[in-house]
Amino acid sequence: MDIKAIRNDRNSWFDWKNIAPINKIVSDVKNIEVKNIKIHNDDWFSAGCADNFSSEENSLILECAKQLIPWRKGPFKVSGIEIDSEWQSNIKYNIIKEHLNIEGKIVADVGCNNGYYMFRMLEKKPKKLVGFDPSPLFKLQFDFVNHFAKSDIVYELLGVEHIEYYEHKFDFIVMMGVLYHRTDPIATLKSLNRALNKNGEILIDTFMIDGDEDIVLTPKDRYSKIPNVYFVPTVNALKNWLGRAGFGDFELIDIKKTDAKEQRKTAWSTEQSLEDFLDPNDETKTIEGYPAPKRVYIKAYKISK
Ligand SMILES: C[S@@+](CC[C@H](N)C(=O)[O-])C[C@H]1O[C@@H](n2cnc3c(N)ncnc32)[C@H](O)[C@@H]1O
Repeated sequence: MDIKAIRNDRNSWFDWKNIAPINKIVSDVKNIEVKNIKIHNDDWFSAGCADNFSSEENSLILECAKQLIPWRKGPFKVSGIEIDSEWQSNIKYNIIKEHLNIEGKIVADVGCNNGYYMFRMLEKKPKKLVGFDPSPLFKLQFDFVNHFAKSDIVYELLGVEHIEYYEHKFDFIVMMGVLYHRTDPIATLKSLNRALNKNGEILIDTFMIDGDEDIVLTPKDRYSKIPNVYFVPTVNALKNWLGRAGFGDFELIDIKKTDAKEQRKTAWSTEQSLEDFLDPNDETKTIEGYPAPKRVYIKAYKISK
């Protein structure tokens, strides 16, 4: 697979009718000179300080942040603007952060969205951070924040299907909220395995169902109104997938039900959210009658090729 050719081809995605005007305003923001880099790597990842910019520049930054709506992941503070995203991704980051032994390592975040977790991972001092996500809007959100953060994170408009063909391998791959979107989860895990260096590690989260059996829910159509959710395993079934893909030494990090504290509508993401996805008379079920969203966080080591 020719990664360079795919990368070049995908650059044209910024010319799409819905993306071109946003690309333009992000480019305008990138012309604002950032002299003092001010970052607060906290639950609200903050970059840029309003006092360092003129009122015209701050107006442009605000307009750009608004054009980048919907902000799914965050929260961010950019030049003092509080971007309260749909997801309080700090909750997820706080679950995984003690398990990110990534100092000095080459790390990938697959399905990185706007890079929130990668910005947070900077505190762990990885050697290199590469994000994979084929969404030009999320890439532009990343570019916007990163203009003020000035990190050396690499953001690729590529998908998980490209990672094993990437120019180099990884020591640690994070892939959260992606596996249930794959029609062949074991093949996806195998390709992550091939993308890892010897003794590499993965950390994933995915929807799960309760139970000790080796079984998987396959939604008929939508799951929690999401059209492309294909397989929702028990933890044991997930371990079986991982085992078949060449992973072992599982470390169960956490199991967490999604709640309205973590996912909700905000002024920065006004489309439907968790409250619209659950049965209004029974919060333990999705609107389709399946068990309500619950995620398992698990780490595993590459034990074979
Ligand atoms: C449910 S979100 C999860 C985002 C984030 N990792 C998290 O856990 O909060 C799924 C993400 O996967 C991205 N995505 C879609 N297709 C993908 C693909 N083929 N490979 C990698 N990521 C993909 C979407 O753009 C989106 O940002």
